[in-house]
Amino acid sequence: MIIIVTGTPGVGKTLVSKEIAAKFNLTYFQLSQFIIENKLYTEYDELRQSYIIDEDRVKEELGKIIQKGNFVIETIYPSLVSTADMVFVLRKHPLLLYDELKKRGWSDLKVAENVEAEILGVISQEAKEVFNGKVCEIDVTKLSTEQILYKISNKQCNETVDWLTDLEVQKLLEKLDNIISSYENDI
Ligand SMILES: Nc1ncnc2c1ncn2[C@@H]1O[C@H](COP(=O)(O)OP(=O)(O)OP(=O)(O)O)[C@@H](O)[C@H]1O
Ligand SMILES: [Mg+2]
Repeated sequence: MIIIVTGTPGVGKTLVSKEIAAKFNLTYFQLSQFIIENKLYTEYDELRQSYIIDEDRVKEELGKIIQKGNFVIETIYPSLVSTADMVFVLRKHPLLLYDELKKRGWSDLKVAENVEAEILGVISQEAKEVFNGKVCEIDVTKLSTEQILYKISNKQCNETVDWLTDLEVQKLLEKLDNIISSYENDI
């Protein structure tokens, strides 16, 4: 049994994945940690403070491991996982996510790009493209961990999560676009 828990950084994947693992007796597996520990990257992007991953090697090495057991895989890159029984995409309101990512002390560019990805549903789209029919999206914005677990256990998924219908989010997107444009010469 392979369960993927995915979503933009800061949505709560770690906490939720560990709880699912404990509840369903699965092994928790954090893909980004695995990538770093096994040096499955090609270079480090200083500007974004993140690694450029070697996708082919990650797929190969991860494939070997997940053949052998039952896992909950936490990842921001669902397409790196070759097979899954169920994919949960956690979504969080962009205004809240923005405040939370700011607190991590990340660069303005890194925060802006990640919150923009949440607004546009980038990871959700990637998950649906690869795991069509197995994706369950959950808006976790006002939910406690227990409530999220209940929804996951009962497959109470949101049909769609579209932040762009919110005027405040549209304004935030404009602000983020300006921040990203201000880095134009560096990108
Ligand atoms: N249901 C929740 N209610 C309130 N706070 C939460 C909830 N789930 C997680 N958090 C808090 O939100 C923050 C982000 O959670 P977490 O680190 O699990 O995110 P993540 O999606 O794993 O991020 P990353 O992709 O960087 O690993 C943490 O401070 C965590 O304690
Ligand atoms: Mg995490």
